[in-house]
Amino acid sequence: MTDNKNRTFRLEQAGSIEHLKMNEESIPEIGRNEVLVRVKATSLNYRDLALAEGNYPGKLNENTVQLSDGAGEIVEAGPDVRRFQVGDRVAGNFTKEWFSGRRMPGYLEPYGSHSDGWLMDYKAIHPEELVKLPDHLTYEQGAALPCAAVTAWNALHGPSPLEAGDSVLTLGTGGVSVFAVQFAKALGLQVISTTSSSWKADKLQKMGSDQIINYNDTPEWGKRVKELLPGGVNRVVEVVGPASFPQSIQAVAPGEELALIGVLTRTGEAIDYYDLFGKASTRTIMVGNRDMFETMNKAISAHKLTPIVDTVYPFEKARDAYEHLKSQNFFGKIVISHEK
Ligand SMILES: NC(=O)c1ccc[n+]([C@@H]2O[C@H](COP(=O)([O-])OP(=O)(O)OC[C@H]3O[C@@H](n4cnc5c(N)ncnc54)[C@H](OP(=O)(O)O)[C@@H]3O)[C@@H](O)[C@H]2O)c1
Repeated sequence: MTDNKNRTFRLEQAGSIEHLKMNEESIPEIGRNEVLVRVKATSLNYRDLALAEGNYPGKLNENTVQLSDGAGEIVEAGPDVRRFQVGDRVAGNFTKEWFSGRRMPGYLEPYGSHSDGWLMDYKAIHPEELVKLPDHLTYEQGAALPCAAVTAWNALHGPSPLEAGDSVLTLGTGGVSVFAVQFAKALGLQVISTTSSSWKADKLQKMGSDQIINYNDTPEWGKRVKELLPGGVNRVVEVVGPASFPQSIQAVAPGEELALIGVLTRTGEAIDYYDLFGKASTRTIMVGNRDMFETMNKAISAHKLTPIVDTVYPFEKARDAYEHLKSQNFFGKIVISHEK
């Protein structure tokens, strides 16, 4: 270890990004079956902004180190650790103890809200809560994966995986949606994407989205999807929530799936039972389990996919990273580097 301080950012109380405070703490001691990760990078998700601003519907313990997503190098391993060794490059799994199979009953306790997250330089952690990073990714790219990428992967796979030639609708160009476009193209899917602006549309086009709709210019974009793809899409990666859901219902093909992921909006038109009855099924997604993360990493390695990182902020500018996320003037992921 080259330094003996552990920089952290704790959220002293919810309500404002201003309540994120940088501290210098001691490096944690590890137990017999724990590893010490030198965190090299973290990434932000919409959830982190909601937590800081006091809009998160779930629990938040006061003064918690923030961010659920991080990647780094193992610099120390307890004597009982078998899963990894010193020098391994790893990322944290979002859904802590959900390793495989069906979604765990009860509430999952993600990092950054219930317990200390990854916005620190040294993290002591149980090795089962980590996955190995794909070799070709930098730490900054690897830190983008745990929440957004696994969620997008789960949305396209899950109990009824999409197959080459199927179609998907992605909404906006945040972390989850941009990963969904990347994975969809790698799977050979037809992709229709919505976005708010022409510079983001250009980027979507370069990534391979087949059809792009500006939802500000075309508020009835659900109908437009059906004009572009008669019958509708096989899956909607629904990250927006109440404001977009009626249009998403319009866009989905009979018998296909609305993957319910996000709540970027809180209110929208009321939905009638018959809007959905006999039409599509809905599946609520909670990121995904560790098996999904590892399977996804195999695909990322095989296809040599690289996460789209919009901007990397230095650790001490973490609050600026939050402000950038809040502005929605980005494409893909916002990352924080922990290099000194
Ligand atoms: N259930 C789960 O497991 C899970 C996992 C991950 C995320 N989520 C949720 O999914 C949502 C997205 O998360 P994220 O981290 O990907 O968000 P993000 O990166 O912050 O996404 C922001 C982008 O979404 C688009 N957007 C914002 N408002 C929109 C609207 N009204 N209509 C259409 N697009 C809009 C904008 O892109 P454009 O300018 O291109 O429109 C914006 O730049 C959040 O609600 C998050 O909490 C849930």
